[in-house]
Amino acid sequence: MSSEDYEPREIDATRPSAARMYHYYLSGEAVFDVDRVFGERVFQVVPYADVGAHHNREFLQRATKFMVSQGIRQFLDIGSGLPTVGNTHEVARTLDPEIRVVYVDNDLEAVNRSHELLSEQDALDTTAIVEADLRYPDLILDHPETKRLLNFDEPIGLLIVSVWPFVPDSAKPNEVMARLRDALPAGSHVGMSHASMTDAPEELIARMVALAELYRETSDPTTMRSRAEFATFYDGFELVEPGIVYAPDWRPEQPVDLEDPARPCNFAAVGYKG
Ligand SMILES: C[S@@+](CC[C@H](N)C(=O)[O-])C[C@H]1O[C@@H](n2cnc3c(N)ncnc32)[C@H](O)[C@@H]1O
Repeated sequence: MSSEDYEPREIDATRPSAARMYHYYLSGEAVFDVDRVFGERVFQVVPYADVGAHHNREFLQRATKFMVSQGIRQFLDIGSGLPTVGNTHEVARTLDPEIRVVYVDNDLEAVNRSHELLSEQDALDTTAIVEADLRYPDLILDHPETKRLLNFDEPIGLLIVSVWPFVPDSAKPNEVMARLRDALPAGSHVGMSHASMTDAPEELIARMVALAELYRETSDPTTMRSRAEFATFYDGFELVEPGIVYAPDWRPEQPVDLEDPARPCNFAAVGYKG
């Protein structure tokens, strides 16, 4: 999609958004009344939606720490969401306080709250929040804040965690991914997760189908993709062990509960650009 087509979004208090709903699952805080009402409907369809959100968030945190352990000192976190406990710069800086992070989101509530948090933490010299859309990667790569904080001659940790489901096929997500991949220097890593309706017990898949149906009412309808489709986002990367797995199974720090209904239906992986 051409950069000229990009239109910033307004805050819409009449419809739930992906960012606000994810924040609701993680924290229990509803930004607007519609979010709480919608959240209750989600919990009827997927009673463990909050557990699933935490699994996803914890994958992001483990992937971040893994990348730091591989020498990554700068991150581009696209679709970063409303800030919540354990944001990328906070997790990364437990290992190295000098790490730089550029956050990107197209949801104004997420952007405003992130800016507030980063200001409060006096962290705006080494972090930034950019209002931009994954569908327009050049606007992200050419943004003055990206250029200020990221050195494209050194490895970058790219995070696109639970964001692709909000990018429809019509936006050519594989072309977007290829553009980002080509911009990354050798040694960079990418961590991604993706909701899916494949490779899971039928009952759980039926719940995901119902969830996708519900999300048609939000400002961020979802496109779930199969494991094989998700794998194509890693073209040009080598998958780091254990490859593409359910999010809680990616290098877990605690034993994984194999019976947990929130375990399937969200694939995750980290790729390495050699
Ligand atoms: C489910 S949340 C994930 C937040 C965070 N990445 C995590 O995994 O903890 C999805 C986020 O992606 C953002 N998002 C959705 N579509 C986007 C797009 N086209 N460009 C940028 N951000 C997008 C939403 O606003 C939301 O904040």
